[in-house]
Amino acid sequence: MPAVSVRDVAARAGVSVGTVSNVLNHPDKVSRAAAERVHAAIRELGFVRNDAARQLRAGRSRTIGLIVLDAGNPFFTDLARGAEEEAARRGLSVLLGNSDEDPTRERAYLDLFEEQRAHGVLLSPIGDVSERIARLRERGIPVVLVDRLSDDPGLGSVSVDDVAGGRLAVEHLLGRGRRHIAFVGGSLAIRQVADRLAGARAAVEAHGGARFEVFETDALTVLEGRRAGTAIAQRAAGERPDAVFAANDLVATGVLQALAFGSPVRVPEDVALIGYDDIDFAMSTVVPLSSIRQPSAAIGATAVRVLLEEARDPGRQAEHVVFQPELVARASTDAG
Ligand code: RIB
Repeated sequence: MPAVSVRDVAARAGVSVGTVSNVLNHPDKVSRAAAERVHAAIRELGFVRNDAARQLRAGRSRTIGLIVLDAGNPFFTDLARGAEEEAARRGLSVLLGNSDEDPTRERAYLDLFEEQRAHGVLLSPIGDVSERIARLRERGIPVVLVDRLSDDPGLGSVSVDDVAGGRLAVEHLLGRGRRHIAFVGGSLAIRQVADRLAGARAAVEAHGGARFEVFETDALTVLEGRRAGTAIAQRAAGERPDAVFAANDLVATGVLQALAFGSPVRVPEDVALIGYDDIDFAMSTVVPLSSIRQPSAAIGATAVRVLLEEARDPGRQAEHVVFQPELVARASTDAG
C-alpha cells in the first residue's frame, strides 16, 4: 500500500498542501481550526512525515540538541521544559543529552547532533569544547551556551549572574549574624561553581569580620553534600562553621540530611544553610531551604530564541543574556 502523502492529508482535511506543511513546520502561522482538521486527517490516514527527505532539502533537522550537566537535577529539567515549550511554538523539538559532567559523553552528544544536522545545539559545557563548537558553527549549526556566561564574545549565552548570586547568598548569611561560613560545592572547574564561590568570597571580604572556608566536592550531588555535611558535623563545636552556602540545592539537601538525620547539629540554630537554584522541592525539605532562585524555564526559552535568531542570521552579533539571581529566604537560614 503506497505511503500516505502530504497531498492525501491536504485532500482529506480540505486544505492546501502549504497549510499542511505549515501545521507541521510553522504551527504558529495556522488557525486552530485548520490545525485540528489537519491533525485529524493525519490520524485517520496514518500519515508519517519523511523527515530524512525534508532534512536533505532543508539542510538541517527540526530538532534542537540540548546537552545538560546532570539530567537528574530538577534545575535542568525545568530549563529543558522552558526550551521545549519555546521550540514547540516554532514547530521544533528538543532532544535532551545528559553529559553527567563527563567530557567524553559530552563530546559523543556533540558528534551525534552534528551527524543529525541538528537545527542548533544548546550546551551547558563541562569540558573545553571550544574547538568542537567552532566546527559545529562552521558547518552551519548554531550553538548557544546555557547556564553559564560565554568566555567567547562571539558565542552566544544565556545565564544568571552567578557571581552576584554567590554574593547574595553570603550577604544573607552575614545579615543573619553568621560569622564562620563554609562554601560546599565542586568541581571548581565548572564555571558556575567558580563564579558562585567568587561572589561568596567578595561578600566575606567586603564584610571583613567573618571566617570563610571551602569544602570542594567531586560533583554537585546529594551524596557529595552528605559527605561534606558529615565532615562539618564531626567538627568540634568551636571549629564548626555556623553557616553553609551550598553551590546548588542538591548539595544543600545532602548537607541538610547529614546534619538533620545523622548528627546532633541543628539547622538553622547551630548551622544556617542556603542552596542555589530554588528547585521545586527546596521548600519541602525537612527544614525549608533558603536558596538563590534561577529563572530556569526562562533561561531555556530565551536560549532557544537566541539560538533561532543565530540560525536565521549567522552573521549577527552574538547575544549574551544575563538574568539576575533572587534571594528566597526560608527556615534553613532562620528567615522567611
Ligand atoms: O549542575 C550545575 C549547577 O549549575 C546546577 O545546579 C545549576 O545551579 C547550574 O547553574
